[in-house]
Amino acid sequence: MSLPEADPGLFQTLYTARALRRFKPDPIPDEVLFQLFDAAIRAPSGQNVQDWRFIVITSLEVKAKLQEWAEEGWGRYQARFGDDPAAIDALPRSQRLSLRSVGHLAHHLATVPAVVCVTGLKGRHSTPGGSIFPAVQNLLLTARALGLGGSIFNLPLGHRDELMEMLELPENNEIYCLLPIGYPTDRHGPVRRKPVKQVVFMDKWQNPWPFAEQQPDEGWTERWAPPNS
Ligand SMILES: Cc1cc2nc3c(=O)[nH]c(=O)nc-3n(C[C@H](O)[C@H](O)[C@H](O)COP(=O)(O)O)c2cc1C
Repeated sequence: MSLPEADPGLFQTLYTARALRRFKPDPIPDEVLFQLFDAAIRAPSGQNVQDWRFIVITSLEVKAKLQEWAEEGWGRYQARFGDDPAAIDALPRSQRLSLRSVGHLAHHLATVPAVVCVTGLKGRHSTPGGSIFPAVQNLLLTARALGLGGSIFNLPLGHRDELMEMLELPENNEIYCLLPIGYPTDRHGPVRRKPVKQVVFMDKWQNPWPFAEQQPDEGWTERWAPPNS
């Protein structure tokens, strides 16, 4: 397999890169994997330190451990719904579907082709994560553009210290997130978010921006959606 010929373009990529958590078992070819990281590392970081490091976990043994820890984390999360997992069925549709996909991934993490562990220097930056997550987002957007899917998935990180040891990470580094990546079985986007008018203010807190108030809540879909969709 080689890189896809048609790049969906910036806006279609941005507006459709939702969190995908169900994957085919197909491996990710090296040239595709390389493109993910070659794009990820174009991100900015404080003082251009670039202390991000990425460990591509493909070992079945490590992924099985991650799955065990994710199932544990998922069990704790589900406890919020009492002892009745069916309580999730009563949630609004988008929340329910999203939670179902989290549960699915927790139980199938060992079968995901690659889980990327993203690390950075401990205490190096005054805005923790600010120098790591731009690269994470570059990676996820590139994955979307190449027909891959993924999401941040930190459920296994209840066992952070053990994972550091398994991956032989030096003490002066820390784990920021895990990114299961693969060819998705679910479809990309559209990404649903609160409208601009609800989160952008003019000059002062909660002072409306009249232009934004006149725009559709779902955003400028014509900017990215194919005409017949
Ligand atoms: C900092 C951060 C942590 C996240 N942690 C998790 C996680 O532990 N498990 C998970 O399934 N998704 C995680 N996500 C993904 C979000 O749940 C997801 O992006 C959000 O619900 C929007 O979903 P959508 O893009 O499909 O609309 C995380 C996202 C961010 C930015």
